[in-house]
Amino acid sequence: MDPSRDNPIIRFTTFWWGIGTFFIFAVLFAVIWLFARSEPTTLEDAAAKPRYETKAKIDAAQAASLTADAIKAATRVVGKQLAASKPAAIETPAQVVSGSETSKKLAAAPAVDTSAIDAPAATDEPIDPAVMALGKASFIICGACHGQNGEGGPIAPPLAASEWVTGPVSNLIRIQLRGLQGPITVAGKEYDMPGGMAALSYQTDEQIAGVLTYIRNSFGNKASAVKPEQVAALRGEVGKPQVTAAELTKP
Ligand code: HEC
Repeated sequence: MDPSRDNPIIRFTTFWWGIGTFFIFAVLFAVIWLFARSEPTTLEDAAAKPRYETKAKIDAAQAASLTADAIKAATRVVGKQLAASKPAAIETPAQVVSGSETSKKLAAAPAVDTSAIDAPAATDEPIDPAVMALGKASFIICGACHGQNGEGGPIAPPLAASEWVTGPVSNLIRIQLRGLQGPITVAGKEYDMPGGMAALSYQTDEQIAGVLTYIRNSFGNKASAVKPEQVAALRGEVGKPQVTAAELTKP
């Protein structure tokens, strides 16, 4: 610094000018910061306010309807019930494993009287086309083994011209609900397919009645329609071992 200017008064004024300038900038920045702060800069910031307002509203509503103590008490009750619960000893027919207790019990159960189901029905009654259509759709699975025209094949006997198909209705229902195994003579020829036929009981009463009505009235066969009630009457046999030809009513 110029030594001639080095006097206390100049130092004093310079000092205050410095403080003053610093203060002016401080005020300026404070004003800019104040205005800039009130404008949300990101979408997150813009959304934050209504979000907090909504959360406060929900919290208030929840607090008004359900107290924290009530939730705690309910949790304790539900927890105790869950801890004390045991698996229900219920087997649905579809879950019956062959050789299991349920399967043995089912096998020992007396056979349903089928005389009502097999009572001779008029064969000249017209068949409902809707039932035939449903039956045709449900038959696709049967056709995989028996042939789409019921002609039979290397893995299953024919349904066309089979005395079983046009014979007693209860036989057909049993074959579908329980499956079939062991030797069976169809149209003069004996079949004994390894493993036999598996049950197809997953189809509804309407589907089974439809598919059986369909095979009884297709491929040159002609016989009475099968009613869903007749299928329902034998539902209790689902889970029994595969039926054998010897157990069925002679066609
Ligand atoms: C996986 C192959 C397979 C499917 C699918 C199948 N069956 Fe069978 N079906 C057989 C076999 C095999 C036999 C002969 C069983 C035996 O040897 O004891 C048979 C026998 C029969 C018989 C008695 C014999 C005869 O030919 O008249 C009828 C009736 C019958 N099935 C109807 C049906 C119907 C209805 C369906 C569809 C809902 C169906 N089957 C689906 C394999 C099958």
